Amino acid sequence: MDKLVIEGGVRLKGEVEISGSKNALLPILAATLLTDEPCVVRHCPSLRDTNTMLKILRVLGKAADFDKGVITAAANGVTNHVADYKLVSTMRASFCVLGPLLAKHKEAKVSLPGGCIIGVRPVDLHLKGLRALGSEISVEGGYCIARTRGLRGAHMYLGGEYGSSVLATDNVMMAAALAKGTTIIESAACEPEVADLAECLIKMGAKIKGHGTPTIEIEGVKRLKGFDHTVIPDRIEAGTFMIASLITRGDILIKNVNPRHLMSVIDKLQEAGVQIRMSGSSMRVSIKSHIRPINVTTLPYPGFPTDMQAQVMALMCITPGISVITEKIYPDRFMHVAELNRMGAHIQREGPHAIVEGVKQLSGAPVMASDLRASAGLVLAGLVAKGTTSVSRIYHLERGYENMERKLAGLGAKIRREKE
Ligand code: EPZ
Repeated sequence: MDKLVIEGGVRLKGEVEISGSKNALLPILAATLLTDEPCVVRHCPSLRDTNTMLKILRVLGKAADFDKGVITAAANGVTNHVADYKLVSTMRASFCVLGPLLAKHKEAKVSLPGGCIIGVRPVDLHLKGLRALGSEISVEGGYCIARTRGLRGAHMYLGGEYGSSVLATDNVMMAAALAKGTTIIESAACEPEVADLAECLIKMGAKIKGHGTPTIEIEGVKRLKGFDHTVIPDRIEAGTFMIASLITRGDILIKNVNPRHLMSVIDKLQEAGVQIRMSGSSMRVSIKSHIRPINVTTLPYPGFPTDMQAQVMALMCITPGISVITEKIYPDRFMHVAELNRMGAHIQREGPHAIVEGVKQLSGAPVMASDLRASAGLVLAGLVAKGTTSVSRIYHLERGYENMERKLAGLGAKIRREKE
């Protein structure tokens, strides 16, 4: 396993190009199962999760090539309807092959994704929605076994106790695209990645409206065509680099970003006193005066994204004053707190709240990554900590950030990869 070794204290300056969105790409790759025609996906980030999803498609019989950011899924049908535990348990997003397999082939056997470090990760909303479309789904031996004589449109409510569900909305929307009749999803997820999947399905011939809002209407069609689609920029990577600029008091031009997808993050950082100059698909992020403490609560889109919680916490660790960070999506998503405290942060957990008392200086230390976004938070803290920080188990980071150390080094960071 590799680790990243960071010498803190460098102000990051320069330009960084944002990669395509992991969380848009993964369901769009699942959507290739809905057609036997060739599909082309552009601006694909080279990530562990991308490779895992391509492996799952190949196991299902859908050959796919990945070359220079472009994925081409072959014009061939699925030959196997089983997505096994080994693969699905490494990446929860693979559960969104269930809807397409059911819609196109009327049967599927997909392993339950199991929990992960940020929470239990249930799939009850996925099953509720797919059952509403007329499928029988049983859970046996850790697998969801689903079959249908033909999906039919339905009017359903897909909100859970933590609000809407991104991948449940994706699963149901993909299945409904080939169901007989009209489906209305109330309390649908509004994330830009869900809207991007819908745009891709519309290119395939699906009839969808309301995507990006809490009510999505899908009128089923008989078959779906291949597509050529460019995924949206990764708003969470962009937000991570915004924090990289601020935590080092640097000045970074972030290119190939859609600021409209980051309004809640921009709003919060402006409340903290940050200058963000937007022009077209670029954002220049710097800070002239001092950063003010802020209170953040994570919510479903368009609220503050849970995937930016660890990163903003790292920034608040060195912001004078008290900041309260409340995690409403995954109340246990605080694995990074103990590691940040090992670097000299003063963070106290109170249930779903983390109370952060800003300190003058963090000190470099060996820390351990636990999940994708916690790893990003630790790297950000290492950029500003006095001395050397080594972040181990960076395979977590490689799941969702393309060439992160190369991009940070390009901005002046003293960062290198070493064998653990
Ligand atoms: C997506 O996961 C993202 N992953 C996550 O990003 C992100 O944190 C999450 O949405 C929330 O924005 C991908 O898009 C691949 P949810 P998803 O279903 O769809 C509960 C990252 O770092 N829930 O929107 O799995 C769930 O427990 C990853 O890139 C149910 O109760 O998340 C959570 O509390 C991490 N029942 C809340 O809903 C269900 O059936 C939101 O989860 C499904 C979810």
